[in-house]
Amino acid sequence: MQSLSLAIIAALFLSSCGIKTSNEPWRNPKVTVERRAEDLLRRLTLDEKLDLLSGDGWMSSHGIPRLGVPPIRMADGPVGIRSWAMPGAPDKPDAPQKVRATAFPAGIAMAATWNPDLVAKEARVIAQEALALGRNQVLGPTVNIARTPLAGRNFEGYGEDPWLTSRMGVAYIGALQAEGVIATVKHFAANNQETRRNTIDILVDQRTLEEIYLPAFRAAVEEAGVWSVMSAYNKVNGTWAAENPDLLNEILRKRWGFKGFVVSDWAGTHSTAPSVNAGLDLEMPGSSVMPALQDLFKNFPGGNPGFDGGYLAQAKLKAMVESGEIAEATFNESIRRILRVLISSGALDPKTLQPDPSAATPVVDSPDQRAVARAAADQSIVLLRNEQNLLPLDLQKFHTVALIGPNADINRVGGGGSSAVTPDYSWKPSDGIRERAAGKMQVTYALGATLEGEKESAPAAVLLKEATDLAARSDLAIVFVGFSAALEGEMADRKSLSLPAGQDDLIQAVARANKNTIVVINSGSPVDVSKWLAQVPAVVEAWYPGQEGGHAIADVLFGDFNPSGKLPITFPKSMADSFAPLDAAKGEYKEGIFVGYRHFDRKNTQPAFAFGHGLSYTTFDYSNLTVTPASPRYGQTVTVRVSVKNTGSRAGAEVVQVYIHDVKSSVERPVKELKAFQRVDLKPGEEQVVTMTLDRRSMWFYDPLVKDWAAEPGEFDVLVGASSRDIRLKGKFTLYE
Ligand code: BGC
Repeated sequence: MQSLSLAIIAALFLSSCGIKTSNEPWRNPKVTVERRAEDLLRRLTLDEKLDLLSGDGWMSSHGIPRLGVPPIRMADGPVGIRSWAMPGAPDKPDAPQKVRATAFPAGIAMAATWNPDLVAKEARVIAQEALALGRNQVLGPTVNIARTPLAGRNFEGYGEDPWLTSRMGVAYIGALQAEGVIATVKHFAANNQETRRNTIDILVDQRTLEEIYLPAFRAAVEEAGVWSVMSAYNKVNGTWAAENPDLLNEILRKRWGFKGFVVSDWAGTHSTAPSVNAGLDLEMPGSSVMPALQDLFKNFPGGNPGFDGGYLAQAKLKAMVESGEIAEATFNESIRRILRVLISSGALDPKTLQPDPSAATPVVDSPDQRAVARAAADQSIVLLRNEQNLLPLDLQKFHTVALIGPNADINRVGGGGSSAVTPDYSWKPSDGIRERAAGKMQVTYALGATLEGEKESAPAAVLLKEATDLAARSDLAIVFVGFSAALEGEMADRKSLSLPAGQDDLIQAVARANKNTIVVINSGSPVDVSKWLAQVPAVVEAWYPGQEGGHAIADVLFGDFNPSGKLPITFPKSMADSFAPLDAAKGEYKEGIFVGYRHFDRKNTQPAFAFGHGLSYTTFDYSNLTVTPASPRYGQTVTVRVSVKNTGSRAGAEVVQVYIHDVKSSVERPVKELKAFQRVDLKPGEEQVVTMTLDRRSMWFYDPLVKDWAAEPGEFDVLVGASSRDIRLKGKFTLYE
């Protein structure tokens, strides 16, 4: 009786809010997700069900028009909302080519902030913009590990470390989904190069998969409750990722408890029954656009990329369901997963059922959103070198500055490919510097060199001479070098670690002409700095900084923002020092778990710049490290406390890093592994105690013998520092069984 009257009150309340209640459970937001999904499933005809497993066009699933169930409307991801029209397709009102949205820094740059809260802010803005533009699924985050410095898509992911990548991914997914937008963690799994990405077979042992390539996906499922996972293009150990039962059914679902749906990467499906039986739920794009897609890529310079599709379209799927090659229970389970996500994300509830086309101004590129993009760009910049404190620029000392290089008068917003966002405006470094230097410093500019693929405005020797003459006449030279979206992006790996297009020569020539030379790099992955590093006092890694690039670079150069970014990826001195020279012929991960700094530590090789490295305009002291309890049991949380003091004269932020070393183990383990970190803002002279925790994940390894995670009792070193090669304090604990 009481519950009945409560139901009436609830109904009255909802109707007074304009929300219609229904006695059909699937429509009722008060009913559990599972019951709603089950109820809706039972109302669907076979044809309606069949439709749900394949896309409708380029970026949409099929809805159920009879019941008013909307399709899932997708957009790339991960660093802002991209047009959902197929590249090259005609402009249409429902799929416009020219979609503008806030462009955030690349994933690698976001990782360099070591600030999950900022990543969450970024994802919240992306979600707001997605909804305002009528999309409710974002194809991101990318959490593939940067295995080789040359991988073309390193810029999109969060670097070489599984723990850092996990923290960033979890923050992104949590914030995006809190707004009711479906996150899609990608690409599952081992998509770590672009060369032959659509055909390559990645041969990787289980321990390496578990310890390096899967943790960020696992965290996405277990900690962030991600609603969607995108399968990778490649094969993993002989089987396409999109039809890999070990990955999709065993690991993702049975072991991690994933309840959402698996979507294929675009045209990365290769079969009907094996895919559905292995756990693929949604094939993208829809078969109707496959011919156009294949046409688009028929003259692709890298050869046929291997795009394939149309396998889960109605007729093919129907034949397999009717013949029993796909069991009805398996088929229904896929549908349930899609319905569950629609329901959990709120897509079936009246308020979000359809985006309101009459809503006032769409919430895209507002001042608040711009501010998040600027904070992200500021915090992402890494000060790699700063001899004699050349930076921040002293306006008393320097009255003329020459801006030089192919990346000075253009903002390299992002890397190339599906993640490229078109912002409303894009701030160039030259504009950022001119704006800041106005009335205080005379700013001049010379191109110096053109990047490959760009129109030569004059012969290379002429450009070089102009640049060096200008540098010689100026108090200071800033050389903006690196890559562009055409040179670093999806579908191709970089050819070499070196800067392209004669930029090494340009830097050296400018440095000879002016000893106060600063280098600013746009890249999504390490570059070879060996030819000129010793000749230039200051080097800044600006990544692909998003629409606010020019402002952020000026903020750092002039000291309006004290740099706090730290490298999420090792800069090797040369490719010969690196562990994984790109082997296009085979996908053998012979280096095993020794990826990134794990490799450099093992070989005791000095990198050019270590993982975790990044300078500040102030200095920090570390003291009073405590690790408690001293003798934990496995599963017990260990608390690490350390005092950090700003000992310089400027406010700044330090990223305190905690690495673990298992002193004695039955299998070879890395010399150190990042297991906790904390970014802390400190005023001059301020001291704070930073508290971080370690749980069993900090101690365990994947034991191939027992096919499970395990930790061995004994001593563990706790290494606390400002980078993986700048360990300031050492503590320990002894693990008991
Ligand atoms: C990429 C995905 C992307 C999809 C849709 C694929 O080529 O690998 O990351 O989400 O295209 O644009």
